[in-house]
Amino acid sequence: MPNTKTLVIIKPDGISKLLIGNIISRFTETRLEIIGCKMVRVSKELAEKHYAEHKGKPFYNDLIDFITGKLHQHREVMALVYSGLNAIEKIRAICGATNPEKAEPDTIRGQFGRILESGLMENVVHASDSVESAEKEIKLWFEPDELIQEIYPTEEKVFKNHKKIVWKE
Ligand code: RTP
Ligand code: MG
Repeated sequence: MPNTKTLVIIKPDGISKLLIGNIISRFTETRLEIIGCKMVRVSKELAEKHYAEHKGKPFYNDLIDFITGKLHQHREVMALVYSGLNAIEKIRAICGATNPEKAEPDTIRGQFGRILESGLMENVVHASDSVESAEKEIKLWFEPDELIQEIYPTEEKVFKNHKKIVWKE
């Protein structure tokens, strides 16, 4: 069984319904390791890169509004990286089908998701669907030093005139 990594996003509906604890408890059943975790305010640019494959589809604009928090009082999401044997399949199995009404009731989406009148699927979580998309998505959402393991090759780069916010002394 291959050791893989996967990106999970707890979407704004999951944050707004106070489901972070419930969702992470469900993922704990997999015994996979969390190697990165942070709260993120999703910019339009990040959303468009993340959902680039859906550009042009009828639900695309709603999807961008949804993930950037325009439909909820919470604009932030939680991003996590899970690592371990068959991580992608194990995490997606617990998430359930994309459509919450078709998802099994014992999955996260079956239990907590819903479809809006507009047809938008509020399905609580995102999970990478292949090794290739996991790598692309993890690199999009996390810097190398935000993960506790070096899972992809890194290099050192020196940026001139690079401004950075640091803690005030
Ligand atoms: P995700 O990427 O969020 O983990 O979901 P997924 O792989 O199960 O589904 P995907 O096909 O990648 O779709 C991404 C998100 O777009 C919305 N969607 N709406 N109305 C529709 O037919 C439709 N299809 C997809 C969902 O919010 C889905 O999570
Ligand atoms: Mg997907």
